[in-house]
Amino acid sequence: MEVRFQIQRFDPEADRRPYTKDYDVSLFDGATVLDGLIKIKDEMDGTLSFRRSCRSAICGSCAVRVNGNAMLACKTQIQPHLRNGVLKVAPLGNMRVIKDLVVDMTPFWQQIRGIQPWLATKPVVPERENIVSQDKVEPLLKPAQCIMCASCYSDCNVAEVDKAFAGPAALAKGFRFVADVRDGASGERIKRMSGARATWECSRCYTCTEVCPKHVAPLDCISLLRGKTIAAGVTDTPGARHVEAFVESVKHTGRLNEVSLPLKTRGFDPKALLSMAPIAIKMTIKGKMPLPIERPIPEVEDIRRIMEAAEEDK
Ligand code: SF4
Ligand code: SF4
Ligand code: FES
Repeated sequence: MEVRFQIQRFDPEADRRPYTKDYDVSLFDGATVLDGLIKIKDEMDGTLSFRRSCRSAICGSCAVRVNGNAMLACKTQIQPHLRNGVLKVAPLGNMRVIKDLVVDMTPFWQQIRGIQPWLATKPVVPERENIVSQDKVEPLLKPAQCIMCASCYSDCNVAEVDKAFAGPAALAKGFRFVADVRDGASGERIKRMSGARATWECSRCYTCTEVCPKHVAPLDCISLLRGKTIAAGVTDTPGARHVEAFVESVKHTGRLNEVSLPLKTRGFDPKALLSMAPIAIKMTIKGKMPLPIERPIPEVEDIRRIMEAAEEDK
């Protein structure tokens, strides 16, 4: 297999800006991106920098962007990603490049540390081990697969615009401890994550779930975390109010009331309400302002039954 690697190179001490360098490499069929990078470094250009360790999709150190999407270099076969014989490799996003494909993961680790990723148990040694039933362990299995590769954080759209956002991996880990029946601090965790730029900041774009190489499905964890937050009665935040207003509106009329939704989401905050005035005026002028009070649609009873069935199913 002949592959042209187009690799983003950057040495902040020598280069003014990142540039792309081509390497033409002969590789065996089935070779991974990491096989190619190692061959380039060993045989063609020893100055190329990248991280790797286990070569088995376990250590999480070799994540890079391949054709624009984050993935593990050691787990990714080249063949399906070749475009006219070319493979583009770049460093992870949302983190500063230290050199070539090596990024400074400090922001990622800070967010992980921020959710206090350890079990808060009572400071007594139990007489016997904590036995957790299978059904209580089940929700922890997916988030426990995380290998901290930061692929999800790299490609998260919210993390790109909001550096304070906890990010998908930290939220998945946060959920993992909230859902652990042995944890003694779930209530505080829920409150802390709900008030911070965490539980409710995710835009549900699904990218983290798509790129995660270990099938952690961070967005599912975030959705479950939101459910636990509301169930715990921690609802005095715009995110929780948005969910409650959404459900209330659909249950009441069978449709979404687009006037009351933003008002209920923001709560009584004069500054926030004032900031919505220009768009409300524009919509009114264009005749696009929905009525503040809407009649229920004829099928509203069916919709209520579906919602009740979904609630019972939870
Ligand atoms: S679903 Fe949420 S956490 Fe995941 S990448 Fe999108 S914005 Fe980020
Ligand atoms: S959730 Fe998946 S993509 Fe994110 S750090 Fe963990 S293993 Fe990597
Ligand atoms: S080298 Fe360890 S995950 Fe790829």
